[in-house]
Amino acid sequence: MNPEKYYFITTFGCQMNEHDSEVISAILESTGYCKTLTPEDADLIIINTCAVRKKPEDKVSSLLGKYSDLKAVKKDLLIAVGGCMTQQEEIAQYIKERFHHVDLIFGTHALPHLPRLLAEAGRKKETVVDIEEYYSKRDNLPVLQSKPFQAWLPVIYGCNNYCSYCVVPFVRGRERSRKFEEIITEAQSLAEKGYVEITLLGQNVNSYGHDLETKHTFADLLAELNKTKGLERIRFLTSHPKDLSSKLIETVSRGDKICEHFHLPVQSGSNSILDKMNRRYSREQYLNLVRDIKNKIPGVSITSDIIVGFPGETEDNFLETIDLLQQVRFDNAFTFIYSPRRKTAAENLKDNLSRSQKESRLQRLNKIQHDISKEINSHLNNKIVEVLVEGPSKTNPKVQTGRTRTNKPVHFTGSVDLAGKLLKIKITDARTWDLFGNPEGDTI
Ligand code: 5AD
Ligand code: SF4
Repeated sequence: MNPEKYYFITTFGCQMNEHDSEVISAILESTGYCKTLTPEDADLIIINTCAVRKKPEDKVSSLLGKYSDLKAVKKDLLIAVGGCMTQQEEIAQYIKERFHHVDLIFGTHALPHLPRLLAEAGRKKETVVDIEEYYSKRDNLPVLQSKPFQAWLPVIYGCNNYCSYCVVPFVRGRERSRKFEEIITEAQSLAEKGYVEITLLGQNVNSYGHDLETKHTFADLLAELNKTKGLERIRFLTSHPKDLSSKLIETVSRGDKICEHFHLPVQSGSNSILDKMNRRYSREQYLNLVRDIKNKIPGVSITSDIIVGFPGETEDNFLETIDLLQQVRFDNAFTFIYSPRRKTAAENLKDNLSRSQKESRLQRLNKIQHDISKEINSHLNNKIVEVLVEGPSKTNPKVQTGRTRTNKPVHFTGSVDLAGKLLKIKITDARTWDLFGNPEGDTI
């Protein structure tokens, strides 16, 4: 087919949003669009946005300004903005009023309706807006996986937790677990197509199943998926500490395909801040959980998210976070300065810190975490690790990049055709974030 129409898509935010963009791409390609990597060539530009912090929102505004120039020279160009940011009514209204060149604004629930909405946007002069809360499970929507051997697989949509700083429950809706059988069948069909690694996605995978009649738990799901022929690796994120069961730890320790990695956001090491964040666990419970995981799963890696500068955070509260960091010794931590979000319980809490105080806390935290990550990785020097090769590095085609089961990037010299294969690599240079090494023998 000689394509007539091209789309360009740009994505902000988490893995769930990356996956949504794969769904949007598949929907567009089923209606005859072809992908382009240059917005200048596109007939349709889609920005799939994030709302978790303010920074991505600012980036979207500046991008929209840029795309208005493209529209000035290409009158039929369609511009659509979707995702978590536009699911918020005030933001959708703001974009509609401020950026007249936007043709379509759609929310996180509108994906199944995209073909109709785009057709409408093409006909109408004014901006088409669909931010209804359909609470769709989005079953049977197509996906255009962006990689040939690794796939995202959502198991639960939405979030019921209402952490006081977080906008996600407002933009992604209530929790909806996908049916157990449907996930198993999808994993089998991915394995048959040659996918060797799946990553199960959910804002909180541990609450999987509570809304299903069958009452399957996430541990049940993992145990069943572990039987999938052809799959080599099963990953999952994100785990909420309050719901992580000992049965799950047991299942991860037993499942040969289930990777030894937990992304277990702690957010703060202070009980009073955890309480204000509505996290529903204490630092002691968190530390016990980590101890349990480390005891039962040798070599496990644990990563975390941490917020600094939450309203009311004192120096002592912050020092408790540092102390927790030093006790747990995370393999890696994603650290953020608190960003007030509309509608959330924390939105109107009084800020007690200046920007520079928050930045200084972030830097102190990062410095400590960097040293910990480096020290942990140094133990991998001269060790042999299993790596799933992902392909050539961005800067040097002779260098191949992959990941360990514990999700650490590994680089080595090798040929491009190793992509998708499992290799044993002997680590020769373990750095803070990246490991370098040489292949040992043939592929596994
Ligand atoms: N401000 C700063 N960080 C936030 N996160 C979520 N909401 C906010 C916010 N309002 C962080 C949390 C979460 C990660 C995905 O983003 O650490 O785990
Ligand atoms: Fe946000 Fe908390 Fe839900 Fe995570 S668990 S998405 S931080 S509300």
